[in-house]
Amino acid sequence: MEIVLSGIRPTGNLHLGNYFGAVRSFVKLQHDYRCYFFIADWHSLTTHPRPENIRQSVKTILAEYLACGIDPEVATIYVQSDLTETLELYLYMNMNAYLGELQRVTSFKEKARKQPDNINAGLLTYPCLMAADILIHRAHYVPVGKDQEQNMEMARKFARRFNIMYEREFFPEPASFHLSEKAVKVPGLNGSGKMGKSDGNAIYLTDDEKTIKRKIMRAVTDTGPQEPNSAKPEAVANLFALLELVSERDTYDCFNEQYNLCNIRYGDLKKQLAYDVNLFCAPIRERILEISSNSAQLERVARRGLEKARAGASKTIKEVREILGFRS
Ligand code: ADP
Ligand code: TRP
Repeated sequence: MEIVLSGIRPTGNLHLGNYFGAVRSFVKLQHDYRCYFFIADWHSLTTHPRPENIRQSVKTILAEYLACGIDPEVATIYVQSDLTETLELYLYMNMNAYLGELQRVTSFKEKARKQPDNINAGLLTYPCLMAADILIHRAHYVPVGKDQEQNMEMARKFARRFNIMYEREFFPEPASFHLSEKAVKVPGLNGSGKMGKSDGNAIYLTDDEKTIKRKIMRAVTDTGPQEPNSAKPEAVANLFALLELVSERDTYDCFNEQYNLCNIRYGDLKKQLAYDVNLFCAPIRERILEISSNSAQLERVARRGLEKARAGASKTIKEVREILGFRS
């Protein structure tokens, strides 16, 4: 079976954008591919986070992915820093990565600009670690956003380089799986663009009913259509897009008709949307609360994930050591 690997940046709680844009696809993918999902906590060190923040965000991400339906018995979900085999491959990747090509990576240049006082070597060799994450499982596909395309090209280049240097087809060249082209773009609440972590723009899976309602009632709208069947301005289209994601078809059609007949009341639309978002989120929210309060369960899942990840990873390392001329 082909292998899919996804690295998850541990950046706070999941919002509906993350859910519909990525996590929901992962939940489906786990049944069609051998899936590895890992929390990229080593990568987060490039910005020097506090240890307690790392610990907390790893737990949060793990609980939220499980609550969304990643099944640790079906897929392999693990914490990057647990799988120390990756480090050895990272070292080998570093030996065949050249300063010039690493310096040309856009995200390196961007980070260097953003944190001029902390241009550490980890930032520079970020693509080597990412390639090691992928190649340790000899993954075929990696779901990534457009922003990761250059890192993916580097991973393919390192795989190819290794295969050429050692004259064998050892690493498959990992292809990017563009979820964003297939998945929906979830709009934000502040009138334009997509849902993201900026203030008040996102509905988090952990938001309670009151918070959901407050955020949605405050979402940007306009004075309403003046002519039948007018085009919807972005802010209004956004509310309809959310409705389409979480509500029954009839509900959507009903409000759409009211809009087209110019008798829509945004207050009613928002109330309905808040109700349906809450209906959608409530079971996930309850599972998140339940899972995150059970440290022993999280610990078991992480340990089980590591065990499954290690089975293949240690085989890769053993073979790489032999190829390179080391004792295995
Ligand atoms: P961002 O893409 O805003 O940096 P995150 O890093 O928080 O988002 O989220 C990880 C993944 O979640 C992204 O690669 C993308 O697939 C998905 N995602 C985030 N926001 C949205 C959105 N508003 N609509 C669709 N997908 C999204
Ligand atoms: N660089 C990815 C991001 O910022 C996270 C990541 C680390 C990753 N290692 C990976 C993604 C391996 C895919 C495969 O989102």
